[in-house]
Amino acid sequence: MKTRHLSVFELEEAALLLRAGEVVAFPTETVYGLGANALSTSAVEKIFQAKGRPTDNPLIVHLSATRQLSSLCREIPMEARHLIDRLWPGPLTIVLPKRDEVPDIVTAGLDSVAVRFPNHPLALELIERAGLPLAAPSANLSGRPSATTWQAVAEDLDGRISAIICGEPTLFGLESTVVDATCNPFRVLRPGGVSLEQLHAICPNIQPYSGTNQEGETTDVKSPGLKHKHYQPKAKVCVVRSAADFAQVAGVATLPSAAIVHYIGLNRPIDPQQFAVIRVCTNVHEFAAHLFDFFRQADSNNADFVCCEEVQETGIGVALMDRLRRASQ
Ligand code: TXA
Ligand code: MG
Repeated sequence: MKTRHLSVFELEEAALLLRAGEVVAFPTETVYGLGANALSTSAVEKIFQAKGRPTDNPLIVHLSATRQLSSLCREIPMEARHLIDRLWPGPLTIVLPKRDEVPDIVTAGLDSVAVRFPNHPLALELIERAGLPLAAPSANLSGRPSATTWQAVAEDLDGRISAIICGEPTLFGLESTVVDATCNPFRVLRPGGVSLEQLHAICPNIQPYSGTNQEGETTDVKSPGLKHKHYQPKAKVCVVRSAADFAQVAGVATLPSAAIVHYIGLNRPIDPQQFAVIRVCTNVHEFAAHLFDFFRQADSNNADFVCCEEVQETGIGVALMDRLRRASQ
């Protein structure tokens, strides 16, 4: 299959492909998504094929208006309405009781559906023009870092999907926060672009994300996606308190002297000569926005290690540390 690279002025072409049951990658404010008609089993099957994604991992359905919710969900609890009123459009996904019209392949047979109203003009215009809710996981091969640029989408999926909308790099660079609104109290299933502090300001009872065990498997059976391998570059990822700890964390004895090491963090290493590439970010938002692209850059340079400096676990720092831990497992 030849993948078309569409400009941001060719959204009608993309919408036609989606209406014809094809798969199209598009930018959102978090990461690029790989979209297909959420109401068509055969269209959604193509997403799983293109990504090589296990079919027990459900997808998020993307909307361009809250009124579309009633065709996908049986009920919306009052507290979920509050989250929707205050945080949509934005990087928040809400899991709600699903209607029978949503195909089982989208939800991996669960009785709930994850929905999101992205805050990105191209994503919204695409959904509007297609006139369809779009099921869309991140637009990367399963197990690879999420794509935050159209070039990263092309690297993974050229030849496997119908088209890519070639927009700008994404703003957040990490995926949306997923909140389960089918339980009481609600729970965070995946930390992301919306922080726990923002959620608590609206719903003080929401349970924080509970994390994963040593094998990177979720201890939380309600979040099927988290048990799969995620966010891994080919290079080994080491999370360090400071760049000076790298050799110790990587295991000096086994470290070849010619090892290619890339560093990313908020502080400049005191001992820079051990790093082939150094990326110092001015704040945690910039760190989050560049992380996945930095992983891909490390792979294209055949780096052996990516050394990542820890950040404080508040705000977006919770999601960033979650991705760093997963990548290092
Ligand atoms: O920012 C994002 O959320 C991006 C953009 C494209 O919108 N999408 C994304 O999709 O990250 P994906 O497929 O990579 O991650 C979806 C997550 C998975 O962890 C999945 O298990 C969870 O959402 N999920 C989906 N439906 C669910 C459901 N019904 N119950 C519990 N978790 C669900
Ligand atoms: Mg993903």
